Amino acid sequence: MSENMKEKALHAYKDNFREPEGGKLFFAPGRVNLIGEHTDYNGGHVFPCALTLGTYGVFRKRNDRILRFYSANEPEVGVVETSLDQLAPGRSREWTAYPEGVVFTLLSHGYQVNTGFDMAICGDLPGGAGLSSSASLDVLTAFAVRELFGLDIADHELAIFSKEADNSYCGINCGIMDQFTVAMGKKDHAIYLDTSDLSYECVPLKLDGMKIVISNTNKKHSLVDSQYNQRWSECRQALAELQTVVDIENLCDLSPEEFEKYKDAISEPVIRRRAKHAIYEDARCREAVRVLKAGDIRGFGRLMNEAHISVSRDYEVTGPELDTLQEEALKLPGVIGSRMTGGGFGGCTVSIVEEGAVEEFRKKVGDAYLKKIGYPADFYVVEVGGGPAVLEVL
Ligand code: GLA
Repeated sequence: MSENMKEKALHAYKDNFREPEGGKLFFAPGRVNLIGEHTDYNGGHVFPCALTLGTYGVFRKRNDRILRFYSANEPEVGVVETSLDQLAPGRSREWTAYPEGVVFTLLSHGYQVNTGFDMAICGDLPGGAGLSSSASLDVLTAFAVRELFGLDIADHELAIFSKEADNSYCGINCGIMDQFTVAMGKKDHAIYLDTSDLSYECVPLKLDGMKIVISNTNKKHSLVDSQYNQRWSECRQALAELQTVVDIENLCDLSPEEFEKYKDAISEPVIRRRAKHAIYEDARCREAVRVLKAGDIRGFGRLMNEAHISVSRDYEVTGPELDTLQEEALKLPGVIGSRMTGGGFGGCTVSIVEEGAVEEFRKKVGDAYLKKIGYPADFYVVEVGGGPAVLEVL
């Protein structure tokens, strides 16, 4: 937890609203996915972990129905004001669409959010980098609203409502991985989640002598503007065609062997490749968790590398920036595994790197990236953190 960020959130609140007494300071993490990419809207498995980086927010209830939002990360937007009665899907394209969507969703489920509130946030997650700054903001809002209004909502439901808000209020057909990880994060553990029924297991991440390094392409990625929804539709099309020959509910109900048997039911080669990625990636994720539990971190790394090839060639969500980071990483001896993480189309890679090789990693991968892509990448050595929390009662 960063003292700086806490201070920054408090200042943001004071400077834009008033003294925060009577309010509370909250935190929600970001996440990095280790393996299992683009499987979560196909009923497959994912294996992400929460980060100690995240979003900080001061929230305080009001006596009327006004909602006021301020983000120190987007000061140019200023204070955005609306009211509980004005919320409507699609009305907002600012960052405030996320908290608005969460409040709207809670109201539509009958939760008694009977007054408005002021909220001021800041965060140390790089925005638009595929580390779930939006899910962090969603869950922060859901968690804070639950605490302020004393709502009876279980932790995993914070994720369910946040996902619903992203789907219906913000128009992103995302799965539940990000929101679930943010809401359920556990320090030094990754979450092995079955997205078909939300059963999960927290698996200890024993990375003795190794670090998780995130490399940011600095190519902005935005799920709303990217081909993310197109991939979602392509998977729906593959599922519909497969359902004419086999009785399944989700793409990831098929094993790779079954996919090979039925794949000709999918008429277009591109759509077949999309389905192939999701199904093989699901199997890879299950295998990766198995080998990790058996203590085979190198085996885990190899599966990460294979996962990258699959998102690059079959799912086509990487591009030269992510591919360069991954390929350059694999040239270094201390790198256990490396792959794109999150939605793709820019954003970050995640690598497991031997501690003694981290500096060389930054230098060599950084130099090669700058030379090839023309602008610098950023690197973060991250720690695995817990879920949302009340940091201070003000
Ligand atoms: C984004 C989405 C997630 C998931 C990943 C890809 O992060 O929000 O639901 O689909 O992309 O695995």
